Amino acid sequence: MQNFEFRNPTKIVFGRGTENQVGAEAAAYSKRILLHFGGGSARASGLLDRVKASLRAAGVEWVELGGVKPNPRLGLVHEGVRLCKQEKLGLVLAVGGGSVIDSAKAIAMGAVIDHDVWDFYLGRGAPTSALPVGVVLTIPAAGSEASTGTVVTKEEGALKRAVNSDLIYPRFSILNPEQCFSLPPFQMACGAMDIMAHLMERYFTNVPHVAFTDRLIEATMKTIIAEAPKLQKNPKDYDAWSEFMWAGTLAHNNLLNTGRIGDWASHDIEHEISGIYDVAHGAGLAVVFPAWMKHVLRHDLDRFVQWAVRVWNVELDIFDREATARQGIARMEAFYQSLGLATTLDGLGVRGDRIDEMADKCTDGDVHTVGNFVKLDRSEVAAVLRLAA
Ligand code: NZQ
Ligand code: ZN
Repeated sequence: MQNFEFRNPTKIVFGRGTENQVGAEAAAYSKRILLHFGGGSARASGLLDRVKASLRAAGVEWVELGGVKPNPRLGLVHEGVRLCKQEKLGLVLAVGGGSVIDSAKAIAMGAVIDHDVWDFYLGRGAPTSALPVGVVLTIPAAGSEASTGTVVTKEEGALKRAVNSDLIYPRFSILNPEQCFSLPPFQMACGAMDIMAHLMERYFTNVPHVAFTDRLIEATMKTIIAEAPKLQKNPKDYDAWSEFMWAGTLAHNNLLNTGRIGDWASHDIEHEISGIYDVAHGAGLAVVFPAWMKHVLRHDLDRFVQWAVRVWNVELDIFDREATARQGIARMEAFYQSLGLATTLDGLGVRGDRIDEMADKCTDGDVHTVGNFVKLDRSEVAAVLRLAA
């Protein structure tokens, strides 16, 4: 196991009706806030009205900025930064999923500097402060509600890039599984995929003696595999959403990578797909992950066999361990397909004619590799994408 430091400062408020506590949580940071949300689901479900009632009761004033699109755009971030500065707002409250939260985190970083926040996404400098961010989560998927990450797309060049900083851990995140009842089955499936991906990125490591976190990750994967089919049958199953939602937060709050080094190549590759084609992040991962696995399988067959046997209940074939591992990948693909997700680029509606461009952008022109389990250069990223096609 590697040396590590672990601290996750996000306060989680979990359960039925907890959105009614948002006013008190927000008031602890500021009485003037930016209320940030997406395209309409929070309004349609009545959540936004309940949030406003709670803010009002706590004496918190707000300025509204809705309209965050999936794969959030830099243009709206700039608008949020302008509002925070002009109106002297002291907290950014995200009501939504990963896209709204990531946009809120970008605004929080941008509101305290006098240069473009995009600089951080290009790796030019790092934030030294940020406004506090609060969250009312509406979709378990990205894990941004308790993560250090924000992923934003710059419209020109369709460049999707990430920043990680301890400064943007949300101060509080309110998780009411009832908010998920209105999620379309496709978004539930994308969420399941993203959560599984966050777990697999951590699972496939070269660090030895990580048995405890292996087991935690396996248990979290098995939870998603067990609960997603229940939600497909009954999207209003509170108990299933509870398990799913909490698993989604723990999959990405950094607990499960303690002592390990994760891979993350599949995420880097997927960000090129959703950056250019504007597909849902989870849907892109369902295509990239199986291809990545087939590409790197032989790097550590034992780890793939362990995963296939423990997570997918594949019977170990001691005479053909590779067949055991491949059976695990096949069962994973069948699971995604059962949720209605495509596992090829073609099925996703993405033509294979921009593979070289994506591989080039992903490695900044072959200047660096992506991934840690196996370091992939530009030609290998293209090979993974061709397998996915
Ligand atoms: O905009 P609205 O109308 O709210 O609709 C959204 C959106 O269309 C809808 N939705 C959300 N909650 C709903 C709902 N519809 C009905 N009922 C509800 N309760 O779902 C759609 C997708 O929302 P989005 O926020 O885009 O989903 P997700 O949480 O999957 O976030 C994806 C973004 O997060 C990034 C991804 O790259 C992508 O841009 N990620 C962020 C990470 C982080 N910050 O740590 C890590 C992840 O790996 C990921 O890269
Ligand atoms: Zn993800």
